[in-house]
Amino acid sequence: ASQHGLNSNCITLTRFFLAEQQRHKEATGELTQLLNSIQTAVKVISSAVRRAGITQLFGTVGETNVQGEEVKKLDVLSNELFINMLTSSYTTSLLISEENETIIEVETDKKGKYIVAFDPLDGSSNIDCLVSVGSIFAIMKKEDNTIPTAKDALQPGTKVVAAGYALYGSATMMVISVGNGVHGFMLDPSIGEFILTDKNMTVPAKGKIYSINEGYTHIWDKAVKEYIDNKKDPAKGTPYNARYIGSMVADVHRTIKYGGIFIYPATSSSPKGKLRLLYECIPMAFIMTQAGGLASNGKIPILDIQPTAIHERSPIFLGSKDDVQEVLDVIKKYD
Ligand code: AHM
Ligand code: MG
Repeated sequence: ASQHGLNSNCITLTRFFLAEQQRHKEATGELTQLLNSIQTAVKVISSAVRRAGITQLFGTVGETNVQGEEVKKLDVLSNELFINMLTSSYTTSLLISEENETIIEVETDKKGKYIVAFDPLDGSSNIDCLVSVGSIFAIMKKEDNTIPTAKDALQPGTKVVAAGYALYGSATMMVISVGNGVHGFMLDPSIGEFILTDKNMTVPAKGKIYSINEGYTHIWDKAVKEYIDNKKDPAKGTPYNARYIGSMVADVHRTIKYGGIFIYPATSSSPKGKLRLLYECIPMAFIMTQAGGLASNGKIPILDIQPTAIHERSPIFLGSKDDVQEVLDVIKKYD
């Protein structure tokens, strides 16, 4: 099917999910439509990320977002794109964004049955130095037809219908799961389409990499300290490599591809860690679990946590099954 380096039968992201939809007779196509609107947002964000220096998108706007961080211009643009594409898709009724302190209710005439929680541009500290950033999203169903409130979005990961991320790395990639495996699509800029390149992605059962911000060693608890010490001690096995980008999407994507463990633990100064449950931990845990890995807060699976607030945080231990199990065993010792 390949001629002049062009594939006449390539499977685009849209084609892939349309085919999935056809397999489910009862499907209305709403989810496919929703994923398409996210795809559009991601394409524009990708283009903006790659042209940011030229179009003066770098640098701070001078305001701070709801988390108290400086808002970068690209964050603002990415957030607007997600909101505009999702609300105009006629598939959502409620949106939760890292950039918005309160919920976003979709106008009545544009309402659909889904709720989307998203981080439009994660890893913003990496923007100005051209290191990878990403977008993360989780899709849930609105259970009834009442006026949406924050409570509707407080669903555990077990209720998530689909989740995924976009990585703006050396190439742009979208990784998505609708609950039957994890599939990766690479953006081909020459045709502006995401092409299926990684079907049924699985994470190795064990890796050789640990990924954690070691600058916080002094505020870790004993279990995390012992586990990381073990990973560096030749007496406890071949020492692991350290890799930490500080962009969750990039660190998680590497973990899926190469195996290993990604940790953002609770610390004495942030007892719930840093990463947000609804639009960082849950979607990544959904993907990792679908890929055959594990994701835990140290006590229970991330997907079993009942959220209590839209911007709540959670510690996270995620990655290869054996590696995550090993740290959970160390944690148990200290209980
Ligand atoms: P952000 O939402 O402000 O971009 O912060 C989230 C990012 C994650 O991508 C990354 O895993 C983490 O913050 C890194 O935090 P730290 O610098 O504390 O290690
Ligand atoms: Mg974030």
